[in-house]
Amino acid sequence: MTTIEKTQLGATGPVTSRIGLGAMGMSGPYGAADEAESVATVHAALDAGANLVDTGDFYGFGHNESLVGRALADRKREDYLLSVKFGAMRGPDGSWGGIDARPTAMRNFLGYSLQRLGVDYIDIYRPARLDPDVPIEDTVGAIAEMVEAGYVRHIGLSEVGAETLRRAAAVHPIADLQIEYSLISRGIEDRILPTARELGTAITAYGVLSRGLLSDSLRGGRTTFASDDFRAHSPRFQGENLTANLQLVEALAKIAEQRRVSVAQLAIAWVLSRGADIVPVVGARRVERWTEAAAALDIRLSDDELAEVEAAAPADRVAGTRYAAPQMEMLDSER
Ligand SMILES: NC(=O)c1ccc[n+]([C@@H]2O[C@H](COP(=O)([O-])OP(=O)(O)OC[C@H]3O[C@@H](n4cnc5c(N)ncnc54)[C@H](OP(=O)(O)O)[C@@H]3O)[C@@H](O)[C@H]2O)c1
Repeated sequence: MTTIEKTQLGATGPVTSRIGLGAMGMSGPYGAADEAESVATVHAALDAGANLVDTGDFYGFGHNESLVGRALADRKREDYLLSVKFGAMRGPDGSWGGIDARPTAMRNFLGYSLQRLGVDYIDIYRPARLDPDVPIEDTVGAIAEMVEAGYVRHIGLSEVGAETLRRAAAVHPIADLQIEYSLISRGIEDRILPTARELGTAITAYGVLSRGLLSDSLRGGRTTFASDDFRAHSPRFQGENLTANLQLVEALAKIAEQRRVSVAQLAIAWVLSRGADIVPVVGARRVERWTEAAAALDIRLSDDELAEVEAAAPADRVAGTRYAAPQMEMLDSER
């Protein structure tokens, strides 16, 4: 069985497992999820030695936090770390309506999150995006007050650029930056990752499988998605883009077959190889998928193999941006 090692998250963050569980998919963005299987997946992750669970108050309008709270209710509080995002605004039809990271809003969101999760404190609390109308110093300063008051243990950020990260870290240590990073989304490498390293901020990488693209699940399979599935609106999953991207997946599959691993495991192993300060947060809502993902920790890729993997799926060959245009606009990390 895979041994899941631990690592400190950044210079000041908590001790976390080398891989975390992303719970978002348990609340619908990739289609309906089975509640009992979702709970079993959280349990499987903890039983395997993982302790980092990522959620957001806007995932399923609080459904995700309630689910995670129920799944963790019988666990000792010190046995898991809750990473929670706040601030993404939604309408009752599910539409997205910008970001609110004002101090008053944050305190309100935090109160509701604690209630839904059934806990006294959140381990890592972070705005989901930079609020263009609120200086990052104000948001981080207000969360720092919540750290002081005991409701939050550590502060994180999500999808911000190097400059914002630097400004935030001048107010309070930032344990980790949660940001998309995968074989085919390598935008952080030029400026963001070096700045994070300089500041002692870890990376919790999401989209490591590029929303399931980097896996065996779409090979020769379906190419259309329900209208409420994230991928129905994601440029990488549309028509010719998807066809082109699946060619990259086929090239990866050849290497995966030689190594007798799955494409998903290869993609996770590649991210793991980028440094001990980069913790993949993999989205899974089924025990089987989680177990497969965690087993990537057992894969060691030689320098030659890493080069082969990168040549098979060069980031500049991916077709389509990682979000649709309106969501790309909201990414401070892309400026
Ligand atoms: N900070 C941010 O802006 C942000 C944005 C998005 C997500 N996140 C966080 O990061 C987590 C991970 O992101 P993500 O879920 O979007 O992306 P991801 O991990 O790249 O992809 C998840 C998708 O991959 C599939 N998958 C997982 N393991 C697999 C395997 N072994 N073989 C084949 N397919 C597999 C999942 O399928 P199933 O659903 O069928 O298991 C799911 O559709 C989320 O849960 C969330 O907590 C953060």
